[in-house]
Amino acid sequence: MPLDVDTLRADTRGVRSVIHLNNAGSSLMPRTVTDTVVAHLRREEEIGGYEAAAEASGRSDRVYASLAQLIEADPAGIALMESGSSAWASVVSLLPLAGSRVLLGRTEYGSNVGILRRLARQRGLQLVVLEDDADGRVSVQHLQQELDLDDVGLVALTHVPMAGGLVNDAAAVGRLCRKAGVPFILDACQSVGQLPLDVAELKCDILVGTGRKFLRGPRGTAFVYLDSHVLEKVVPTPNDRRALFAPIQDEPPSARLLESREASIAARLGLGRASEYALELGIEDIRGRLQTLADGMRLHLADIRDVELYGRGKQGSGIVTFSVREKMAVQVKEHLAADGINLSTVPLPPLKPDAVLQETPATPSTAVRASVHCYNTEAEIDRLASALRRLVSRGN
Ligand SMILES: Cc1ncc(COP(=O)(O)O)c(C=O)c1O
Repeated sequence: MPLDVDTLRADTRGVRSVIHLNNAGSSLMPRTVTDTVVAHLRREEEIGGYEAAAEASGRSDRVYASLAQLIEADPAGIALMESGSSAWASVVSLLPLAGSRVLLGRTEYGSNVGILRRLARQRGLQLVVLEDDADGRVSVQHLQQELDLDDVGLVALTHVPMAGGLVNDAAAVGRLCRKAGVPFILDACQSVGQLPLDVAELKCDILVGTGRKFLRGPRGTAFVYLDSHVLEKVVPTPNDRRALFAPIQDEPPSARLLESREASIAARLGLGRASEYALELGIEDIRGRLQTLADGMRLHLADIRDVELYGRGKQGSGIVTFSVREKMAVQVKEHLAADGINLSTVPLPPLKPDAVLQETPATPSTAVRASVHCYNTEAEIDRLASALRRLVSRGN
């Protein structure tokens, strides 16, 4: 059933005050998510934090179940984290690698590349940046060539990069990695909530998602999924994490050992509610609406003199990246903010694969990113286009 936009907007208090096109940054939470968070905080206020957690323990367990349903995984493989970057860093740092070469895409998320660079220095690893195919997606052909050379310890891919609208063919990458017996980590921070994800089909051993973006959860929430064979290898070292308190050797391996023992239960419950809400709407329907809105926006923007769209080939996500000739991205953002339109600026990935690994990259060019969610409307996109036309016609 197509999504009912009036209901989606009634579910989203923020649409009354702003045109929010920064869903890839942090989406507007649906009221059911905010209400869940606030209700739990009230219980903490009324009866105490530990008592409120005990009262909500059944609902806390359902957070794992709904996230697992969202990515078609076993709930035992899910750990709740505070950010996508720290989830990615924790797991990759703990993962024993059977080969000394790590393959990554050109559009790998910046902090993931930073972690890999550090690991490369510490463990003598070689990082290899894969080329793009003609559509700008990671080249599966190049991946196969590199896997054939052997000694690959890990393949890392960002499913939907933060800039541009492309969706990497993660399932094709997963199939080749599984065949070669090489672990595959998928950064799904920009895809969870906007695209259907099925870890069996993606054949990823590790998947990282964040809460506040297309999933529309609260800030400070994220999760990681570990396949059971990875779970056995990733033994957390004692720090602030639960591992410090759990008798690791005696327990069946549980991804929850990666979790911080202290966390915001309210935010976690909010994350679970966001996941349930997305499942109730239907991820396929969400994907369809995002694509219609983003394709419509691209057509609109392509028509505006001095607006240049970024990205090659077919764009499959709700992210649209562009620049306005002779205007800095931040100026465009500020101009639109004055018109009540939220969007963000993003660094563009370097065009040359090797430049991705430079310690001190040249100042990256920055573009403007508009990202839609299902509660956005065609009328809001018209408002964006009109505001951009005004900016362009005003000149400097
Ligand atoms: C592709 C991608 N991966 C990872 C992250 C990091 O997520 P977090 O901000 O939760 O650490 C982001 C955030 O923008 C992202 O765009």
